[in-house]
Amino acid sequence: MAVRSCRLLLLLLLLVFWLLSGQVLQTLSLTIGINYGQIANNLPSPTRVAGLLQSLNISRVKLYDADQKVLSAFLNTNIEFIIGIGNENVSTMTDLAKAQAWLQQHVKPYIPHTRITCITVGNEVFTSNDTVLKSNLLPAMQSVYQALVALGLDKQVNVTTAHSLDILGNSYPPSSGSFRQDLAEYIHPLLNFHSMTKSPFLVNAYPYFAYKANPNTISLEYVLFQPNAGVPDPNTNLNYDNMLDAQVDSVYTAIQAMGQTDIDVRISETGWPSKGDPDEAGATPENAAIYNGNLLRRIAMNQGTPLKPSVPIDIYVFALFNEDLKPGPTSERNYGLFYPDGTPVYNIGLRGYLPLMSSSSKRMVIHGLGLHIMTIAAFLLA
Ligand SMILES: *[C@@H]1O[C@H](CO)[C@@H](O)[C@H](O)[C@H]1NC(C)=O
Ligand SMILES: *[C@@H]1O[C@H](CO)[C@@H](O)[C@H](O)[C@H]1NC(C)=O
Ligand SMILES: *[C@@H]1O[C@H](CO)[C@@H](O)[C@H](O)[C@H]1NC(C)=O
Ligand SMILES: *[C@@H]1O[C@H](CO)[C@@H](O)[C@H](O)[C@H]1NC(C)=O
Repeated sequence: MAVRSCRLLLLLLLLVFWLLSGQVLQTLSLTIGINYGQIANNLPSPTRVAGLLQSLNISRVKLYDADQKVLSAFLNTNIEFIIGIGNENVSTMTDLAKAQAWLQQHVKPYIPHTRITCITVGNEVFTSNDTVLKSNLLPAMQSVYQALVALGLDKQVNVTTAHSLDILGNSYPPSSGSFRQDLAEYIHPLLNFHSMTKSPFLVNAYPYFAYKANPNTISLEYVLFQPNAGVPDPNTNLNYDNMLDAQVDSVYTAIQAMGQTDIDVRISETGWPSKGDPDEAGATPENAAIYNGNLLRRIAMNQGTPLKPSVPIDIYVFALFNEDLKPGPTSERNYGLFYPDGTPVYNIGLRGYLPLMSSSSKRMVIHGLGLHIMTIAAFLLA
């Protein structure tokens, strides 16, 4: 009898462990956003991706376009979308009629069954060399906004654009953050637009780039959110123990220096590559796992930055998949958390509970696990 209750206890523990293990990821992933880039020729269909994201309980997705196949596949999933207008289409959108036509085709049909909450007009426009594009950015955003107003959607869909951190002229210490002088003429009116329309300022922030450029002077602990003494900001006495916080606070300071104090800063992309060329220091699966694992833990803790401790940073991880057709150094094709076949590139503290290709395969695997536990039970009770 004693042996049997011991086995029963063990069985119970197993069951509890199994149930809890499923919870870990769900709790952690409450507010993760993820970039779903598609510069690849081997990605699973949007329907399967919808299954993958639901199995991960990832509820916020950012696209670089307004792919109708994706938006249709996610109908009624309750997943929230940031969609994009590519740089090649920005200038067209300065024409109000074209912006209205775009919304009629790419946004209107999906609302409210696909939750589109934000439109990014262009990506990293101010660090391109195209001066026409730079001048057209704000007029394009204004016309997309006016078109939303006409449709009565301006309260539920934000209009913004995503910036490279290279728009900063100074980023250290964070209290000295400022925009590049040559961009001031564009950024000043852009900030007025954000303030007027209450839309967020988005930055693509990669401590990895800073590390790659200076691997001998920048501490890996500091960029990977690992324990370290931190870097004090001499002007504010605030201590920074990771670079991402410092980057965000530099942007807040740069915005304040232009006279705006009520604009939210959000991270539209951040991540770490799992592979790189020989001259790309730090691009390893180990570092990528540490960076993204710590990032997810941090997101789950809802922390703000030293400058704004009560304002949690809103973060979209880059990226969902490795994208084999991206140009540039090897690292560019290796930012994914997942391979195109849905297997994780590395475990980020969520070992063993990571996804599953689609809802149906998830059911199969859980079913299989259930059977496995029943086999153990039969053995224990025998
Ligand atoms: C999934 O996340 C949402 C919040 O995004 C949360 O409300 C929900 O409880 C989670 N689902 C499960 C099954 O944990
Ligand atoms: C966006 O640009 C692409 C490539 O130039 C073009 O094929 C497409 O028609 C454009 N879309 C809109 C809405 O202008
Ligand atoms: C812009 O031009 C400069 C110098 O001509 C070049 O070094 C840089 O790579 C260009 N940037 C982009 C994004 O094309
Ligand atoms: C629009 O952006 C503002 C500022 O970041 C935010 O408070 C608001 O919730 C956003 N609206 C939507 C629909 O996401």
